[in-house]
Order: sequence, then structure tokens, then C-alpha cells
Amino acid sequence: MIPAALIEQLRACQHLAILTGAGVSAESGIPTFRDALTGLWQRYSAEKLASLAGFSKDPALVWGWYEARRQTVLRAIPNPAHIAIAKLATYVPQVTLITQNVDDLHERAGSPEVIHLHGSLHHPRCVGCRRPYTFPDPIVYEDFEPIVEQRINPPFCTHCGALIRPGVVWFGEPLPVRAFSQAEAACQAADLLLVIGTSGMVYPAANLPILASRAGVHVAEINLTSHALNQADTHLDFSLIGKAGEIVPLLVDAAFG
Ligand code: OAD
Repeated sequence: MIPAALIEQLRACQHLAILTGAGVSAESGIPTFRDALTGLWQRYSAEKLASLAGFSKDPALVWGWYEARRQTVLRAIPNPAHIAIAKLATYVPQVTLITQNVDDLHERAGSPEVIHLHGSLHHPRCVGCRRPYTFPDPIVYEDFEPIVEQRINPPFCTHCGALIRPGVVWFGEPLPVRAFSQAEAACQAADLLLVIGTSGMVYPAANLPILASRAGVHVAEINLTSHALNQADTHLDFSLIGKAGEIVPLLVDAAFG
């Protein structure tokens, strides 16, 4: 099931880059964005909930929706894909883990350093002075509803009085500059790039596999379907179709078990 050439490449790899998307957390019960029926953008308006204009218009709706997502993540636990990815850092001399996910499941699985391209649900900040905001205890509300549209007023910044916003990157906003340049550099310098559970629809993150393949880096995709890296200019060396929580542990065991 796992191509022998990929196992060999992983075993010999000195610098491994990994790009993950919502699919890697799907088996932990975190909804993806674009999967039919279950994807968040199939059910909710990205324009209303994931843009500065939407937040300015209805801050309580946006804050409530992200708070429900954060509560879902707090209750979730890392799945075998997160755990196998974390294990790779003990076998490969250099691993650069890049995620588009705003959860912290890679960190909780034990991955030592994670580049978050799209920010984090756990690190809100002030819209005015950009100072970070720390959530009060208790962190997990016992009776919290799963992800639904509900209004919760966002807190105010204790320094400047402006509203606190979710710490995620919204449509139309730039990616964190340092994180993206680290990701670009790693994807071009690595020996191998694993692209796990992303539809490859959102730029500039979707450019990373293209950059890698242009730089001669081998690219392997792991996804439920093969649509993810269908850009004509990405040369995909391997495509492993199936659940990340099954395939990633198999791959790691085949190379290092
Ligand atoms: P998508 O929802 O666009 O894509 C999820 C991908 O995961 C799809 O290609 C699925 O086939 C795949 N998938 C689902 N379950 C899987 C499983 N168990 N194992 C392997 N693959 C699985 O999510 P992303 O590509 O991450 O942006 O979306 C990119 C960005 O779009 C997100 O970071 C988010 C969203 O708008 C922000 O929040 C800024």
C-alpha cells in the first residue's frame, strides 16, 4: 500500500517538511472546511464569519462562532496522524512542520515546533493595539454547545479598550510574514515534502507544494481524495489515498518501525 520508493526516501531524509490542513484533525472530530456536508464553509458563511468586515458588522456573532470552535478543540484529542507526525521528529534529523490549522493538536501530540500559517484559536488579540489576550479560567465550559451560530460579546482590551478578535487569519488578510517565509524556505530546502489533509484551495499556502516541486523536492500527498494537489504545475511524486490517521502511522512504521 505504501510505495517502497517513498519509504526509502523517508528513511534517507535529512530534512523533512510537512504541510497539514484540516483533514489531519478530522479524525479528532474537528470539522474541515470544504468537505461535502460536514465542511464548515458548506454550512456557514465565510464572508460573515471569517473576515474583518464580518467582525466589524457583528462582533458577537463572530466571537461566539470562534469560541464554539475553540471549545470543540479543547475537548478534542490528537489522533494517530498527529502522533505519528510528532514521532517523525525523533527519526529525521530536521523536521519542519507547517500547518494551516488553528487548533493545537500537533503541539499536544508532542511536535516540538509548529509553524501556524493561519494563526490560532487560542491566541486572540486586540484589534487596536494588537496586544495578546489571555482567556480567563475555567477554560472549558461544561455546558457549551457544539459549533453553532451563537452570539457572545467579545471582551475588551484592558490596555486600549478596543475589541478583542480571534487570533486567526481571515480572508483578505496577509499571513504572518515570518511564519510564511520560514515555510517557503523549508519547502524549498527539504528533501521531501508530505502534504497531509489539505484541499490546496487556499493561497498562498497552496503555493508551497508548487514551490517545493519546482525546487526539485519530492512531494507526497496523503488525502481522502486525490483532488488536493491537482495544479498542473505541481509534480506529485506520490499520492496516498485514505485517512491520515491510518496512512501516516503506516508510513512512519514502514520507514522506522
Ligand atoms: P479543506 O476543508 O479545504 O480540505 C480538507 C482536506 O482534507 C480535503 O482535501 C479532504 O479530502 C481532506 N480530508 C478530510 N478528512 C481527511 C482524513 N481523515 N484524512 C486525510 N484527508 C482528509 O481544509 P484546508 O485545506 O485545511 O483558513 O483549508 C485551508 C484553509 O481554508 C483553512 O486553513 C481555513 C479555510 O478557510 C483559515 O481559517 C484562514
